[in-house]
Amino acid sequence: MIYDPANDVDETEDTQRVDRILKASFGVVGLALGVAVLLVGGLTMVGIANSIGVQASAGSGGESPDQLPGATVALDQGCVGCHSIDGSTLAGPTWQGIFETDRTMDTGDVVFADEDYLIRSIVDPAFEIVEGFDAVMPTDYEEKLTEEEINDLVDYIESLA
Ligand code: HEC
Repeated sequence: MIYDPANDVDETEDTQRVDRILKASFGVVGLALGVAVLLVGGLTMVGIANSIGVQASAGSGGESPDQLPGATVALDQGCVGCHSIDGSTLAGPTWQGIFETDRTMDTGDVVFADEDYLIRSIVDPAFEIVEGFDAVMPTDYEEKLTEEEINDLVDYIESLA
C-alpha cells in the first residue's frame, strides 16, 4: 500500500468524528443515567421521608390507650380485676366512657366525672359510692400510689372516654 498523507488525514478526521459521536452519545447516556439515578434517589428519599412521617404521626396522634403508662399501673395495681375497659361490669363499674359523664351515687346525687372526680374516686373511694355497687374498692391507694401513678391512671381512664 502506498502511503498517502491525504488518506491519513482523512482517517484521522474519521477517527476524530467517531470519537466525537461516541463522546456525544456517552454524554447523552451518561446524562440519562444521571437523571435516572437522581430520580430513583429522590423517590427513595421521598419514600423514607414518608415512612418516617407516618411513624412520627402515629407516635404523636394515634397512640392507643393500651400504650399509656396508666394501663401498666392499672395492671400492676390490680385495678383491672374490678374495672373493665370494654363496657362489661365486674365488681366495679367499667372505665369505658365514664369520663365527663354524669355518675349517679348511691345517695341519689349526680356527680359529673371530671378529672377531680376520678382522682377522688381513686384516693378516697368510700367518699362517694357509685349506685349499684358495693364499697369494696381498696381505700389505701393514696398511700400505695405515687402522684405520678395517680395522674397516669387518670390520663388512662380519660383516654377510654
Ligand atoms: C376490689 C375491686 C376494686 C379494685 C381492685 C379497684 N376498684 Fe375502683 N371501684 C370499685 C367499685 C366497686 C367501685 C364503685 C363503688 C365506689 O364508688 O366505690 C369503684 C369505683 C371506681 C371509680 C369510679 C368509677 C365510676 O364509675 O364513677 C374509679 C375511677 C375507680 N374505681 C378507679 C380505680 C383504680 C384506678 C383502681 C386501681 C388503682 C381501682 N379502682 C381498683 C372496685 C374496685
